[in-house]
Amino acid sequence: MSSTHREIKAAAQLIREGKLVAMPTETVYGLGANALDPMAVSRIFESKERPSFDPLIVHICDLAMAESLVEEFDPRAQALAEAYWPGPLTLILPKSELIPDIVSSGLPTVGLRMPNHPIALELIKQSTCPIAAPSANKFGRVSPTQAKHVAKQLDMVEAILDGGGATVGIESTIVALTDEGFEVLRPGAITPEMIAETLKPLTDLKTREVQGSHNHKVEAPGMLDSHYSPNKPLYIVSKEEILQAAEGGQISLPHQGLVETKQCGLIHLDLPAELNYGQIYQPASNLSEFAIQLFSSIHYFEDSELGFILVQEIPEEGIGVAIMDRLKKAAFRFT
Ligand code: TXA
Ligand code: MG
Repeated sequence: MSSTHREIKAAAQLIREGKLVAMPTETVYGLGANALDPMAVSRIFESKERPSFDPLIVHICDLAMAESLVEEFDPRAQALAEAYWPGPLTLILPKSELIPDIVSSGLPTVGLRMPNHPIALELIKQSTCPIAAPSANKFGRVSPTQAKHVAKQLDMVEAILDGGGATVGIESTIVALTDEGFEVLRPGAITPEMIAETLKPLTDLKTREVQGSHNHKVEAPGMLDSHYSPNKPLYIVSKEEILQAAEGGQISLPHQGLVETKQCGLIHLDLPAELNYGQIYQPASNLSEFAIQLFSSIHYFEDSELGFILVQEIPEEGIGVAIMDRLKKAAFRFT
């Protein structure tokens, strides 16, 4: 059940006191602290066992708050904010002096996002400060899309607000606005095509997509080879391999040799429900549903008796780019 107004108010008080609060957003649950309080922010890094070179996204509840945290909210940022906020888009902009170095890992920029979830927006508003929040999981592990996934991984958190299951299911698109144009640092539900379309009318500004222009000495988790990693082997398999293995009852996996399909949990897109596998996660019938269920299903199989997690390879188009990005990183250390 969703957290009540009273619980949100109490959580806002904790934020003001420098404590950690997990909050629901439409992408994944975040582990929040007062973004203007370096001591509070340091607890986020400690709780997540996150390296300090990895900067945090700052969550805001209105445009005035966003504008106070950056040097300039240029017309490109305004157009994107108008089109996609509240929503799954993080904008990297030159930061104002209000943002402590620990938040930006010493970078001159800050990532800002207005989450599309009433509980997150209410929490920020009641806290009267921006909230720095990475995904509420241990560093490198699978992001939480339900309140119970947060409790499973983190103990150093004062309160967990429950806002039900995430409605997007994968982390926000991260876009840097640079002097050359815009650069997608992490793919998400908002695609480069959508961003280009929104920026098109601003002909006098740098509105084309560029790559490698953003001088991020940071390795975004989206850029590390291994991330989103489950506690048991995960493999990406083609539709043909899935159907063939179901028929023979065995599948050949890297480093494992032949494995019984009944030892495998299967996450797939629109295949028959009666395939011969250990368990089949609730089938998704389109890419958006697949994204919504992906991390939940991995958490579910992490907690099951099954030895392996198989995920169907999906087309890299639209949100499929972001899904395959997360899957390749989740599978990296097993292949
Ligand atoms: O959907 C989301 O973005 C979720 C929810 C909670 O809002 N948050 C999230 O945070 O995914 P996290 O910490 O897992 O990923 C944040 C990433 C950093 O790893 C970094 O790559 C990038 O955002 N980032 C933050 N500030 C940056 C900056 N100033 N320059 C470049 N990248 C930055
Ligand atoms: Mg994360």
